[in-house]
Amino acid sequence: MSRLDSFIRRLTAQRDILNHVEADLDIPAGGPVMEIGLGNGRTFNHLRELFPDRRIVAFDRAMGAHASSVPDDKDLVIGEIAETAQAYLGVDASLVHADIGTGYPEKDAVTLTWLPQLVAGMLTRGGVAVSGLPLEHKTLNPLPVPSSVPTDRYFLYRKI
Ligand SMILES: C[S@@+](CC[C@H](N)C(=O)[O-])C[C@H]1O[C@@H](n2cnc3c(N)ncnc32)[C@H](O)[C@@H]1O
Repeated sequence: MSRLDSFIRRLTAQRDILNHVEADLDIPAGGPVMEIGLGNGRTFNHLRELFPDRRIVAFDRAMGAHASSVPDDKDLVIGEIAETAQAYLGVDASLVHADIGTGYPEKDAVTLTWLPQLVAGMLTRGGVAVSGLPLEHKTLNPLPVPSSVPTDRYFLYRKI
């Protein structure tokens, strides 16, 4: 599969799962949404459309978002996520989305030494995690993804 095809599949899977969360899954009321890996801000922009009444906190090592998709200063956390996000453990998030896979297995393996605990620690009970990397954690229960999403392309969990 070409990298273009793989990119399109990743973004389609991401959008389809986020839409599914909004339409079909009850996520806990009131809690914030965490966007781990702001990037260009396309997903942040989509999350704002899906969850207009939620606070959305976005993390990245640098601000590279399109001008239309920049979080408020108070909701933008710049720096290495493994460090900056520690301050958000226990924030009782309703939804965490993480899109920080690189396509380099050795780099992703390092990310996976800290990402599952971080996501689990941010979520409230019953909260939902959506991730481009698989998250193995005893409190993150895998949920089925929409049929449009290829197996193991993008992942969905609920915190128990
Ligand atoms: C694939 S992009 C996210 C794309 C985003 N979903 C969008 O709509 O544009 C991943 C982003 O996460 C950031 N990132 C990845 N790992 C990080 C880390 N450990 N700490 C801080 N930022 C990180 C990168 O700088 C990059 O901007």
